[in-house]
Amino acid sequence: IKERTLAIIKPDGVQGYYTDEIKEAILEWGFEIVQESKFQLDSERASLFYAEHSGKSFFQSLISYMTSGPALAMVLEKPNAISEWRALIGPTDASKAKISHPRSIRAMCGMDLERNCVHGSDSPQSATREILFFFGDVMLTSGGLPL
Ligand code: CMP
Repeated sequence: IKERTLAIIKPDGVQGYYTDEIKEAILEWGFEIVQESKFQLDSERASLFYAEHSGKSFFQSLISYMTSGPALAMVLEKPNAISEWRALIGPTDASKAKISHPRSIRAMCGMDLERNCVHGSDSPQSATREILFFFGDVMLTSGGLPL
C-alpha cells in the first residue's frame, strides 16, 4: 500500500546545486515525485512549520537557516514512503552521517546537526500536517481516492 511523505531540499541544498543529484537518488530509490514547489519561507511561516521546536535553544538559528534562501518541497510516494525517505536521508546530524551512513543524502550534501540539507516527515501525523502546510489537502490522496 502506497504512502506519501513530505521532503524538503533545504536552502543549503538548493544553494549548493544538489537538487538534481538528490532527485536522481529519489527516483533511483523508487519514489514518485507527485508534486513539487520551490518557495522562499519567511520567518512567520518557518516558525509555524517548526512550531514543535519553538522552545528549543536552536529555534532562532533554525529559522534564520530555513529563511536564508529558496527551498524545494516535494510530495514523495511509494510503499512505506515515510520510513523509506528517512532511511535514505540518514541521521539528523550530517557530520555523523558522513561516518555512519556514508551513502545517505545528508552525508552527501549536509554539514552538521543544523545544516543537514534535507527534511523528511517523521510520522504519518507529521506527513499529513506537512503536506497540508505546503500543498493543501488535494495532495493527501490520489485524486481524492485512497492511495
Ligand atoms: P529536521 O529534523 O528536518 O527538523 C528540525 C531541524 O532542526 C533539524 O532538521 C535541524 O536542521 C535542526 N536541528 C535539530 N536539532 C538541532 C540542534 N541540536 N542544533 C541545531 N539545529 C538542530
